[in-house]
Amino acid sequence: MSHFPWQPAYEHHNRWKKLTRNKPQSVRRSGLPRDGNFAFKGSPISKRPIPYVKNVIAVASGKGGVGKSTIATNLALSLAINSAGSRPLRVGLLDLDIFGPSIPKLMGLEDADEPELTKGELPHYGHLVPLSNHGIQCMSMGFLLPKSPNGGSNPVTPVVWRGLMVQKATQQLLFDVDWRGRDPSANSGIDVLIVDMPPGTGDVALTFSQLVRVNGAVIVSTPQDISLIDVRKGVSMFRKVSVPILGLVLNMSYYTCPSCSAKHHVFGSIDSFHRAVRELDTTILGELPLVPAVNGGAEGGGSESVRTAMKTIARHVLRTIDP
Ligand SMILES: Nc1ncnc2c1ncn2[C@@H]1O[C@H](COP(=O)(O)OP(=O)(O)OP(=O)(O)O)[C@@H](O)[C@H]1O
Ligand SMILES: [Mg+2]
Repeated sequence: MSHFPWQPAYEHHNRWKKLTRNKPQSVRRSGLPRDGNFAFKGSPISKRPIPYVKNVIAVASGKGGVGKSTIATNLALSLAINSAGSRPLRVGLLDLDIFGPSIPKLMGLEDADEPELTKGELPHYGHLVPLSNHGIQCMSMGFLLPKSPNGGSNPVTPVVWRGLMVQKATQQLLFDVDWRGRDPSANSGIDVLIVDMPPGTGDVALTFSQLVRVNGAVIVSTPQDISLIDVRKGVSMFRKVSVPILGLVLNMSYYTCPSCSAKHHVFGSIDSFHRAVRELDTTILGELPLVPAVNGGAEGGGSESVRTAMKTIARHVLRTIDP
């Protein structure tokens, strides 16, 4: 049985055969080498652009559950209200969290139909067509998992893959999506792709950062020391594979008491975060409070403080892209 819902369309396709026969491009099974040495055997790895995508921004952290997906989604929505010349900025959102995709739910697409495959001529035949909501084109492993029998998406379907399967799926999500969407005209495509990274510095993060030409990474942390330790690992990995660090976002920084309006640092002092920023020689892109409704959606729901913080982060990101 195929684990790839879109595999049948590829089965008579040379590119699919090549992909399944060859080892993914010089990427180790086990993620980061222990000695931190990134010199791989075999042919040199060349980074390449994602087809029909002008700029790529990764949202990452070493640690799980710190708010990457929340910030990636809000960043995509914040960027999409900007313009590129006389037209709105075209934004895409790629969920690279193969084992725990969140973008279908965060973008209100969990009940959407499976993505279509492109027809037409090679080399664009059989590519995934992104799903779209709030004006953002989205792709996620979550769209490709089997649906539950009663129709909706099945959040309990586990992805039980290791090493090579994960790398192949990552490469397909990176290079076999047609970001021109439903309008494959000459001028279509997207200006900026926000990539929601999985936690950690494993296979997916390494495959992505070695193969894709990335403008830079936004690193998310919470104030706790345990989160900052993993942030250091994440920053170190990106720097070793020459992905620029755009800066750090401090999420769940404080909580504003609704009765007395005082700010409480419920996850402890933010001094360690500021120290980490200095030691890593980077900058703070923004600070988000802990709020009851963090996911605003395109209609501008959620909290005003989150929207303001996201606008600041979006401004920083806009400076690094070329629409
Ligand atoms: N500023 C915030 N205030 C309140 N809740 C938040 C905030 N940021 C994120 N959350 C909540 O924290 C949880 C984890 O967030 P999210 O899924 O974005 O983290 P993640 O880093 O992507 O996790 P994973 O590593 O599992 O992918 C979610 O329930 C989200 O709604
Ligand atoms: Mg996530």
